[in-house]
Amino acid sequence: MSGIPHDHYEPKTNGEKWLHSRLPIVGLLYDTIMIPTPKNLNWMWIWGIVLTFCLALQIVTGIILAMHYTPQVDMAFASIEHIMRNVNGGHFIRYLHMNGASLFFVAVYLHIFRGLYYGSYKAPREITWIIGMLIYLAMMGTAFMGYVLPWGQMSFWGATVITGLFGAIPFIGESIQTWLLGGPAVGNATLNRFFSLHYLLPFVIAALVALHIWAFHTTGNNNPTGVDVRRSSKTEAEKDTVSFWPYFVIKDLFALAVILVVFFAIVGFMPNYLGHPDNYIEANPLVTPAHIVPEWYFLPFYAILRAFTADVWVVMFANWITGGIVDAKFFGVLAMFGAIAVMALAPWLDTSSVRSGRYRPMFKWWFWLLAIDFVVLMWVGAMPAEPPYSTISLIASGYWFAYFLVILPLLGVIEKPEAQPATIEEDFDAHYGKAETPAE
Ligand code: HEM
Repeated sequence: MSGIPHDHYEPKTNGEKWLHSRLPIVGLLYDTIMIPTPKNLNWMWIWGIVLTFCLALQIVTGIILAMHYTPQVDMAFASIEHIMRNVNGGHFIRYLHMNGASLFFVAVYLHIFRGLYYGSYKAPREITWIIGMLIYLAMMGTAFMGYVLPWGQMSFWGATVITGLFGAIPFIGESIQTWLLGGPAVGNATLNRFFSLHYLLPFVIAALVALHIWAFHTTGNNNPTGVDVRRSSKTEAEKDTVSFWPYFVIKDLFALAVILVVFFAIVGFMPNYLGHPDNYIEANPLVTPAHIVPEWYFLPFYAILRAFTADVWVVMFANWITGGIVDAKFFGVLAMFGAIAVMALAPWLDTSSVRSGRYRPMFKWWFWLLAIDFVVLMWVGAMPAEPPYSTISLIASGYWFAYFLVILPLLGVIEKPEAQPATIEEDFDAHYGKAETPAE
């Protein structure tokens, strides 16, 4: 399956042979867990496991919450309070789910930026990358709808603002918005469908994750050098790899344990740190909160959405060229989705023949600037839309697009890459010393 020669499952006992000839599921799991994995993977390769853990955690805690939650506008807020006060362990389950969403996004952002630095999106892993982007979009949809369920002030007003964006689409926008909401405004129909979809989407994500794993098991993992595993012979491949079980399973579980120490400290001691106090006030369509702020993980894209106001020249130009069809609001929506689209296109925008950023002296600087840019966008997304924040968000949004549309394509042409190690084994030995061959 992997294209890298390795040992395949061989059924031994009669029982194993019986099952294998009818449903080779043990063989499938065996080959998956024993997959040869580049032996030089560093700590940035742990996030996939953390993400898998988060998905499982969200599904398990979510199902328990759903047993006690009522998706009805007059009861939703009270049912959350009921979970917090009356249900056995209810506050713990809820806090796990609330903060689990944040851990999920911390992990996904680190996973994505790892991919961007080590060129994991490049051929032949484009499909892994695109599926990853679909997962990310599904995660955003799930988190957004989940946040509406407690029916607090931020739930209500966040949903009103974000679904209002669809209204900005010319001609058909208002019909789409009404269709999404199930009525003219956020109400009971909205809450019901959001609950239904919030329950469904994690299972869609789980299916996408299965495809994601299938895709990178087909190409084999990337690694910090970006150099391919030698495939000419089994002996050579074995010098570059070790099997996923037990080596990487133990390493990943250790990393997960360390991360969970921090996670449980937050869940136990500061569970509302990342939330907004206004969401403990029941939704009131007649009172708008002073600042409507999305959850932290949406802030970078929220900043891009708000950056393009009517006085920005590109917006004025787009407005003029389209005869007024593209106004500032619609431009903002296009920019927000465009920011994710350009990232999805990275495999084709990056023209460099070298995969890993480690050997790309110019790329490195631009990459770290992108990472800082992302943090800056997150910060300005939480600030009021007024100077100097509006100017900062415009510059930071501009850089986001420039990185993918101009810098990545250009660097491949002008940059002179450094020498890469010939093999993964060479890189490994350089870091950890050459393993001594045991005396015969
Ligand atoms: C629920 C969400 C996700 C899960 C469970 C998941 C899981 C994994 C796992 C287990 C790996 C193997 C190596 C590693 O741990 O890094 C991996 C690799 C990869 N992921 Fe994800 N992923 C998710 C989301 C994403 C997203 C949003 C992207 C970005 C678009 C992405 C892009 C990639 C790429 C390019 C690789 C290949 C890197 C390599 O093989 O070395 N993934 N993913």
